[in-house]
Amino acid sequence: MDKRTILTTSTRGLLEDSFPYRLYQKAKRVGTWNPADIDFSQDQKDWQTMTAEQKEDILKLISMFQAGEEAVTLDLLPLMMAIAKEGRLEEEMFLTTFLFEEAKHTEFFRLVLNAIGETGDLSRFHSDTYKKIFYEILPETMARLVSDQSPEAVAEASVVYNMFVEGVMAETGYFSFYNSLETAGIMPGLLEGIGNLKRDESRHIGYGTFLLQRLICEHPHIYDLVTAKMGELAPMAIQINQEGIEGREVSSFGGDPDEVMNFTMKQLAVRMEVLGRAKGKKIEEIYKVSDSEIGIL
Ligand SMILES: [Fe+2]
Ligand SMILES: [Fe+2]
Repeated sequence: MDKRTILTTSTRGLLEDSFPYRLYQKAKRVGTWNPADIDFSQDQKDWQTMTAEQKEDILKLISMFQAGEEAVTLDLLPLMMAIAKEGRLEEEMFLTTFLFEEAKHTEFFRLVLNAIGETGDLSRFHSDTYKKIFYEILPETMARLVSDQSPEAVAEASVVYNMFVEGVMAETGYFSFYNSLETAGIMPGLLEGIGNLKRDESRHIGYGTFLLQRLICEHPHIYDLVTAKMGELAPMAIQINQEGIEGREVSSFGGDPDEVMNFTMKQLAVRMEVLGRAKGKKIEEIYKVSDSEIGIL
């Protein structure tokens, strides 16, 4: 093991104006909502008035989020370990809030399921494509970091976790929730939690964007690796959307299913566009990036 250098008693101190430290400060300010404080009494009433098809669609979405949040809670640690091993203190300080928030997201969806009285096995909603992502690719890519902390392995992990699972899959899921429940004016507790989750996730995705931009800046060949990985994952996001639509022309809430697909395609393009901005930047510029430039809510 490398000889330890203590940062906070050195002249370096903490990099207080660096992006990860600012993100850590923001998480402490706005990331403290408590899932257990959300009132689901109206959601319980609304659930009784929904059609069987609507219930099935919402349960499917919740079951994918519930499993997804559990997976990201369990799979984040190897990344934290890799970052800590490199002595990147400000990044690790932010990551402590990241893991705490994923745990709260896992708690949140279980509270929703409990409130609507759902006690059955929901894994029937997990298609083969879904399982491929959450039961295989995500845990395997993250677990690789236990023994391989190369920049390539860290970049691949961040693409799968932050750019794809959070930045494309989860963002599309929020869009679907709003598209159905907000339009119908039902399930306010679920929507309140989704609003909080969305803000938390903007910081997680923002950190991933910073991390990948830093890696691309330090090792320019990483950009091609990131592009290739996103290209490999993209068809799975499209496939999951198609499975959600099930050939219907109108969703159970009356919306146009194409809107969800268009949103996914836009997310895929946006992620790559933002990462491409790292090319040719100086490392100091990456650390100085503002919240709004990186899309923090
Ligand atoms: Fe989450
Ligand atoms: Fe997250």
